Amino acid sequence: MSAPQYVMAIDQGTTSTRAILFDHDGAIVSTGQLEHEQIFPRAGWVEHDPQEIWRNTREVIGQALSRAEVTRHEIAAVGVTNQRETTVVWDRHSGKPVYNAIVWQDTRTQKICDRLEGDEGPEKYKERVGLPLATYFSGPKVAWILENVEGAREAAERGDLLFGTTDTWVIWNLTGGVDSGVHVTDVTNASRTMLMNIDTLDWNEDICRDMGIPMSMLPRIASSSEVVGHAAGHQLLRQAPITGILGDQQAATFGQACFEVGQAKNTYGTGNFVLINTGEELVRSDNGLLTTVCYRIGDEKPVYALEGSVAVTGSLVQWVRDNLNLISSAPEIEELAREVEDNGGVYLVPAFSGLFAPHWDSTARGTMVGLTRYVTKHHIARAVLEATAYQSREVVDAMNADSGVDLTELKVDGGMVMNETLMQFQADLLRVPVVRPKVIETTALGAAYAAGLAVGFWESTEDVVANWQEDRRWEPTMDEEKAERLLRLWKKAVDRAREWID
Ligand code: G3P
Repeated sequence: MSAPQYVMAIDQGTTSTRAILFDHDGAIVSTGQLEHEQIFPRAGWVEHDPQEIWRNTREVIGQALSRAEVTRHEIAAVGVTNQRETTVVWDRHSGKPVYNAIVWQDTRTQKICDRLEGDEGPEKYKERVGLPLATYFSGPKVAWILENVEGAREAAERGDLLFGTTDTWVIWNLTGGVDSGVHVTDVTNASRTMLMNIDTLDWNEDICRDMGIPMSMLPRIASSSEVVGHAAGHQLLRQAPITGILGDQQAATFGQACFEVGQAKNTYGTGNFVLINTGEELVRSDNGLLTTVCYRIGDEKPVYALEGSVAVTGSLVQWVRDNLNLISSAPEIEELAREVEDNGGVYLVPAFSGLFAPHWDSTARGTMVGLTRYVTKHHIARAVLEATAYQSREVVDAMNADSGVDLTELKVDGGMVMNETLMQFQADLLRVPVVRPKVIETTALGAAYAAGLAVGFWESTEDVVANWQEDRRWEPTMDEEKAERLLRLWKKAVDRAREWID
């Protein structure tokens, strides 16, 4: 029998779940994709149904395999990547979640965060975990479930409940669930929980105690590239080895081949996430960035990153489509925006989940300023697109300030990078070239690489570098003074959005 030709990546994202088959060149062979429901029970709350996510995962695996007419024997390995921080708690005996998944964008844990910080402020755990206390991260979400779901605390204390981010949930089910489910996550996902020591890479007992989380709920922390289990829970994938796990933003960094210190990428998804590789050195930010694990290959030393997380970018376009009905499909935003030269003075700050990096203001809320009778829906569409670029510029500025060295170019990926108007404006604002690779599905690709490296499908990260190919590059063309003036106005708009909730 010939050697397997493909690696499968499962990308469990915020809005959809995908399975993608890649060949040895890192090219896409086939894709399966299903969206899942976004549940908004109250203002600021965002949930997913974990059972729907698992059902969709099973189905998209089947779609990808059947579309390429590929069978189990042709699959060398499976890698999993996921929306990070989103929290699932389930019963290990029934396999049933005790509550919906609480999504990373959800702000309900503000009071828990305030209580935890006490007199010590939001930086209380930062030295230990690399993150400020914020509603974004998993630990307080687990605490909320244990405090608010009837019977959950007692069940957790009896050792009946398991916690996981969605990589953990999918892999537990994929490896057989109740009978044989493997309870595991990787270092990159664990570094987003607020529960893992960023230097030793194990769970921090004191923080778990502060949050009332029994250690028995926590998964094993694996590296990003090793055999963690076999797909006993999916008929078509029968026992295929699962050998890679990476949070989606770290996976994109891996897929973009950012293996050198100082290399950075920006992913344009539901939110935007800029990660810069800082190598084996743990860099602590003075400018509102997160210290996070970038990846760890097997027993090798972990590689760290600084991250600038922006909560709302692509999801602002979805909001314009679904809540305002201004457009009927996401790409239409560019058609509308292209009709005008500029934003007509309008700035839209989409602080739907408060503001993440570099502000970390959970009391901020969305705002639109600069309106006059002159303004049309075209200007608003333009302001929607520009919001993504301004927010990205703010986190790149923070990165330059932290490292003392300015970025010389930015690799980009994710759905919105097909938007030419946005990419040109991004280069104009950043004042450095913006570079798009041929494969923009770098998140799934990164997970495939991590999985393939563990089984020798690819030999080393040099293969990943060799596969990376540039597709397009945008150079800044706008006059610098003009770019700076626009940015100044954006900052005034951000000030208006801040400290809204009292
Ligand atoms: O931290 C949240 C992030 O992992 C979600 O990514 O791709 O849904 O914007 P995305």
